[in-house]
Amino acid sequence: MNKNPIYCAIDTSSIDNALKLIDEISPHIGGVKLGLEFFTSCGVEGVEKVAKCKLPLFLDLKLYDIPNTVRKSLKNILSLEPTYTTLHVSGGSDMIRECVNLKKQLNSFTKLIGVTMLTSFEDNSMNEVGISGSVSENVKKLSHLALDTGMDGIVCSPMEIKDVKNMFGSKLEVVVPGIRNQTDNNDDQKRTLSAKKAIEFGADVIVVGRPITSADSPRDAAKIFHQSIK
Ligand code: C5P
Repeated sequence: MNKNPIYCAIDTSSIDNALKLIDEISPHIGGVKLGLEFFTSCGVEGVEKVAKCKLPLFLDLKLYDIPNTVRKSLKNILSLEPTYTTLHVSGGSDMIRECVNLKKQLNSFTKLIGVTMLTSFEDNSMNEVGISGSVSENVKKLSHLALDTGMDGIVCSPMEIKDVKNMFGSKLEVVVPGIRNQTDNNDDQKRTLSAKKAIEFGADVIVVGRPITSADSPRDAAKIFHQSIK
């Protein structure tokens, strides 16, 4: 494997912590994922500072709103030139098509990745939000929609990688959070797997957050993750 597929989720509210962490682990990761916690405290200015670290950036803001609002927000995101950014596939085909068209118009290289079901969800949590069927059925359905509407990839848990890869092969990039090695705490993730297995199953990108960022030595933890998939 040439490219390191590990994107570390830098989920912190402090720009200083983020930059310190990135500096420490950068030799062992392939990119940095910034999400809602970072963005709602450090904003666009924070993203620009992280971008100066020259690692590929995954801006994970999981857009979900009416098509016009999402389109305008995505335009702002694309100007930051992340390698990846996310939308909820459940926002529907009109919302997604607006985004895919915008990307084409702007000739943007940013890959649009569709969130299928959150990895903190399990079959029991589906009912309470009015979704019928199992997590895996819904992941397959939403992956179909992502492909049909022209998205570049999807996010799913390690449990669904094989199904999605069997169905779509290289037509959809598969981005996988919920990565935990045996000794790691699962935190709020319900559907987890080791980095090695996730890559074996066909994940293109794996997202690892707390097992690296909360470790006594984030650098050693990142190194161990990287070595485990070499
Ligand atoms: O700390 P941990 O490894 O659980 O972090 C996982 C990261 O992946 C978090 O930033 C979370 O927001 C993100 N994520 C997820 N499940 C999804 C999409 C993104 O856990 N379906």
